[in-house]
Amino acid sequence: MPEHDLFLNLSLVWTLVAIILLSFSWRLACYGNRLRHRKLMIFLTLVAWAFIALYLWQSRQPRPLEIKEEYIPWIILHGVIGLIALLGATALVFARLWQEKVRKSDLHLNRHHRLYGRIFITLWLFTHIGGVINYGLFI
Ligand code: HEM
Repeated sequence: MPEHDLFLNLSLVWTLVAIILLSFSWRLACYGNRLRHRKLMIFLTLVAWAFIALYLWQSRQPRPLEIKEEYIPWIILHGVIGLIALLGATALVFARLWQEKVRKSDLHLNRHHRLYGRIFITLWLFTHIGGVINYGLFI
């Protein structure tokens, strides 16, 4: 199977798994299950960065994904929102880990974790729903 087909199929699996895990993690946070929410968010953030690395690798293969011109604005929107969500999530994870290390730290991101968490998780879910649409566009 060519690398980009493999990448598309892997993307679909990751997108569906991530939608389920993100929704579950949000629920865990709402019910105050901090430890499991924490573990899941760290895991999801790490896998999301690995996914970006895989995307960059496949785009360097001889026959990368062919994107029709009319889809380009959508792909840009998808990518920009996805990056905002991922950079935001990474910042939230680091802020929390920092607070665990330096107990007295009083970071803005931690004080408003709930607000930012809701924004980034929503953008992240939007990106993954877009991922399902992309699969339909490219396969
Ligand atoms: C080390 C990582 C993390 C830890 C320890 C952690 C911990 C917590 C805790 C204790 C809460 C309860 C409320 C509060 O403290 O303000 C919470 C809520 C929340 N977190 Fe996290 N979190 C982490 C990462 C993230 C990330 C990366 C996101 C999203 C991208 C996120 C999204 C949320 C949301 C949406 C809520 C609010 C749930 C609601 O009431 O709607 N968290 N988190």
